[in-house]
Amino acid sequence: MRTAGMKERKALPPGFRRHELEQRRADLHSAFPIEQDGWDALSGLPLQRELSDVMVESAIGCTPVPLGVATGFLIDGVDVTIPLAVEEPSIIAAATFAARLTRRDGGFTTWASAPLMTAQVFLEQVSTEGLAKLHDFGPQVEAALSRTLSTLAERGGGFRRFEVSRLPETGSVRADIIIDVRDAMGANRLNTAAELVRPLLEEASGGRAVMAILSNEARDRLAGARFSIPVERLAVGLSPGADPAETARRIAVAAAIAQEDTARAVTHNKGIMNGIAGLALATMNDTRAIEAAAHAWAARSGRYRSLSTFTADAGVLRGSLELPLPFATVGGAVDFHPASRASLAILGNPDAPRLARIAAALGLAQNLAALRALVTEGIQQGHMRYHAARLAWRAGARGPEVRMVAEALAKEERSDIAAAGRALAALRERGS
Ligand code: MEV
Repeated sequence: MRTAGMKERKALPPGFRRHELEQRRADLHSAFPIEQDGWDALSGLPLQRELSDVMVESAIGCTPVPLGVATGFLIDGVDVTIPLAVEEPSIIAAATFAARLTRRDGGFTTWASAPLMTAQVFLEQVSTEGLAKLHDFGPQVEAALSRTLSTLAERGGGFRRFEVSRLPETGSVRADIIIDVRDAMGANRLNTAAELVRPLLEEASGGRAVMAILSNEARDRLAGARFSIPVERLAVGLSPGADPAETARRIAVAAAIAQEDTARAVTHNKGIMNGIAGLALATMNDTRAIEAAAHAWAARSGRYRSLSTFTADAGVLRGSLELPLPFATVGGAVDFHPASRASLAILGNPDAPRLARIAAALGLAQNLAALRALVTEGIQQGHMRYHAARLAWRAGARGPEVRMVAEALAKEERSDIAAAGRALAALRERGS
C-alpha cells in the first residue's frame, strides 16, 4: 500500500552490507518510506553513526531510546543515581518513588555471589567408560585453559570447576566448565574456553562433540536485595483516610498471588525487569542474556513463579528479591561505547558484582512501586501525566508548551488529541 506523501518501498541493492556506511544510509533512505523526522531521529550524530558501524553489521544509524536517572536510592548505605534507558513512561518515576519510600529506613541492603558463569560442551556417543574418564578430567581441563584464563586468574578469577552428567532424554553428555569471569559478562571467554577443550573432551571420552557454547542460565551468578519499612511509610501518596497497614497487607497478598499464579507472575516479573532491563540497556549490557537468566530462574522449581517475596507483619513491610544478574562493567559494548561509560560514571564506576547489586535493588524498588500502585489507585493514574505530555507533543506543542498543555489536559474530562489541540490553541491565543 502506498502512503500519501511517502516513497514506495523497494529492495536494497545487492551487496548492501558491504557498502560504506553513508552509501548504505543513502540506499536505505531511497528504498524505504521513512519520514524526515524519523530519518533525523535514527541518524544520530556522526560519531554515534560511526560507532554503530563499528559495532554491528549493516548499521544505518542508532535508536535514541530515552535515557533518564532514578534518584534518591540508598543502597548499602551509599547514595546511588541510576541511569535507565527506557521507552515506557512511568518506570523511572516509579523507581524514584520507591527509593524515597525506603531511604529513611536504610534503603536497600544487597548482596552478590562471585561472578561464576558456565561454558558447556555437549557430546554424543559417549560410553559408560568414556563418561567415567570425563568425571576425572577436571585437572586436564584446568591445565588446558590456564593460558586462556591467565589474565582472569591474575585478577582473582579463572577456572573453578568441571562437572559432567548424562542427559536422560537424549543420552548426550553435558560437560560444564565453571569460570569466575570477574567484571566481564564472560561470553567471549566462555565460548573460547568451551571450543578449546572440545577436542580434548572428545579424545578423552571417545565421543563426538555436538556443540560448545556458554550457558545463559547464570544460576551461579546471583544477586539479591531486601528492604524493610514501617507500614506508615506507605501513607505517602495515599488518598486521605486510606490505611497504610491495609496497603502493606494487600502488597503481601499481591506478592503471594504472583507466587501462585503463573500468568500473574509473568507480569509481576516483567515489572521487576522494567528497571533491570533499563539499567542493562543504559550500560549496554546484554539485555537478552539478563532477561533469559531471570525468567529461567523464575521457573527453576519446574513452575514459573514470582522472583520476589513480600511480607507484612507487626507493622513492618519487608521485600526481597534474588535472581541471576550477569551484568558486566568491562568487555563487549559496556566499556567501549562512550554512552555506556557515561552511565557507569553516573553509577560511580562499580565493579560487576556491585552493578548486579544495584540492579537487584532497582528491580525490587520497581516491584514495590508497581505493587503499591496496583493494590491502591491502579497504575493508569500515574501513566496519565506522561500520556498527556505525548498528546501535547502530537498536537504540535513544543518546549514549555508541552508541560502547559499536559497540565491543561489533566483538568479536562477527555484527554485526546483533539482536546490537546484545543488546549494548545487556547494557550497560544493567550500568549499572542
Ligand atoms: C508495567 O510495565 C509493569 C506492571 O504491569 C508490573 C506489575 O503488574 O507488577 C505494572
